[in-house]
Amino acid sequence: MTILAIESSCDETSAAVCVNGKIQSNVVATQLIHEQYGGVVPELASRVHQQRIVPVVERALHEANIQKNALTAVAFTRGPGLLGSLLVGTSFAKALALALDIPLIEVHHMQAHVLAHFIDEQTIPQFPFLCLTVSGGHTQIVLIRDHLDMEIIGQTQDDAVGEAFDKTAKLLNLPYPGGPLIDRYAQQGNPLAYPFPEVEMPGLDFSFSGIKTAFLYFLRDRMKANPDFIEQNLPDICASIQHTLIKILLTKLRRAARQTGIREIALAGGVSANSGLRASLADLGRQEGWNVYIPKFEYCTDNAAMIAMAAHFKYLKGEFTSQEVSPLPRW
Ligand code: KG4
Ligand code: ZN
Repeated sequence: MTILAIESSCDETSAAVCVNGKIQSNVVATQLIHEQYGGVVPELASRVHQQRIVPVVERALHEANIQKNALTAVAFTRGPGLLGSLLVGTSFAKALALALDIPLIEVHHMQAHVLAHFIDEQTIPQFPFLCLTVSGGHTQIVLIRDHLDMEIIGQTQDDAVGEAFDKTAKLLNLPYPGGPLIDRYAQQGNPLAYPFPEVEMPGLDFSFSGIKTAFLYFLRDRMKANPDFIEQNLPDICASIQHTLIKILLTKLRRAARQTGIREIALAGGVSANSGLRASLADLGRQEGWNVYIPKFEYCTDNAAMIAMAAHFKYLKGEFTSQEVSPLPRW
């Protein structure tokens, strides 16, 4: 089983090669063009994917020391994501599979974030486990019974937590994507400097739009009194907002673990790169007696290795995709 996998759902063009379930290469080209616009511009993203996809795939094959005709399947992210971006990866994968006369495997991007935990054999969660999947577009608590048997038991009703990070960063005049910068400044700040309200949602669902508005009013008031408020207090502001977002996430995760009785707890998605979240989850895990699984940094944000891993499990089950397939931006 030699799978070439392609990820192009948002602003990373990535290709990976996986042989018998082992990742041999994982090339990720991040698009920097969006920084100047304060967010991903879909039209630009798809054009850059188109420029990058051939060299990225060639490098992934080269690094894995695999010739094209040794491939036994081509996998791609079918969704969710930006339509134009998904189209580039989907069309490329379809064309390559057709030319080589090998099967095509569609992959769900969020399922792949969870399955990134199976890349490194030493740290594989036991079934059933819970995964807090936190990215720029999603915030979910997922119950995983088997590789391809997953159920979302809680999710955001409005913004994703990554969006909350990025939007608050934008209000602080930080460039896109702001999440990693909030993380960096927060490391020098006091998380209890400014308390922000937490919106209480029923059950296991989340809401992040209220905190964004509260943060906007908070900044407006402070800036009225002191126009240099942000410059003078950036670490404390970042630490406080990050602390609140993490608290909202972990409160629900603890509730989910207690409700289900599951103690195998994983973290996935771009926001799992956040150092505060990683440390707080490890602490909570010790308190609650959980086995906690935190992905390596390279597999937190978007990458094709996780797509290849998901494709590996689909290949084993013979779950192939027809050439008629088209992307599903809202899958
Ligand atoms: O999974 P991902 O790469 O793409 C999506 O599928 O959305 O997640 C991207 C999100 C962005 O919102 C970005 O700001 C956030 O992950 N992110 C972080 C950190 N690194 C990436 N948020 C907070 N702290 C970080 N260190
Ligand atoms: Zn993602």
